[in-house]
Amino acid sequence: MTKITIISGSNRAQATTTQLCSYLQQVLESKGCLVTLLDLYVMPLPLYSPDVVCEDANLAILRNSLNEADGIILATPEYHGAPSGVLKNALDFVGSAQFSGKVVLSVSSTGGPVGVSSLQQLQTIVRSVHGINCPEWISIGGENRTFTPEGEPVNEKLRERALHTLQYFVKMVEAFSPEL
Ligand SMILES: Cc1cc2nc3c(=O)[nH]c(=O)nc-3n(C[C@H](O)[C@H](O)[C@H](O)COP(=O)(O)O)c2cc1C
Repeated sequence: MTKITIISGSNRAQATTTQLCSYLQQVLESKGCLVTLLDLYVMPLPLYSPDVVCEDANLAILRNSLNEADGIILATPEYHGAPSGVLKNALDFVGSAQFSGKVVLSVSSTGGPVGVSSLQQLQTIVRSVHGINCPEWISIGGENRTFTPEGEPVNEKLRERALHTLQYFVKMVEAFSPEL
């Protein structure tokens, strides 16, 4: 079974980033994937310091989940044209041991129409930890950040794009995971 870990890098309840992640989880599970969604708002991490050996329980969950994952989704709100500090802090705790050779999909939620800047910066981070960037990405912005009570994006085009992107992502994950 294809194992996917999703990290939501928004530090607030009712975050649209996390709502989108929950929807992506639903779609992936309907395709037979085993999905773990890690919401950094409900499982906060300490501030990373290279001087400290961190034995935090949430960090252990994050590391284990990334170690086990065949594919990874990184999702962030766009803050000042960049990924959130909360997500960057989490990523500073991990590295190529968790990402090398794994396909990674970048996802963002922005006030403006599309979060190209944060997505590009996420892809730079992925490259730096030797992950494989999925060339597709998903961004929600402006009025397209609304969801039905069932957790589906209201915008039909967005649902179509998410489905297309996830199908492409899973195909890539399977192609780069020899044991699947
Ligand atoms: C500190 C801060 C900086 C932001 N910077 C930007 C920005 O540069 N560009 C943008 O389009 N939206 C920006 N926004 C808006 C958020 O990206 C937008 O509200 C996003 O949907 C929040 O995601 P969330 O619902 O997961 O919290 C910023 C919001 C905050 C709080």
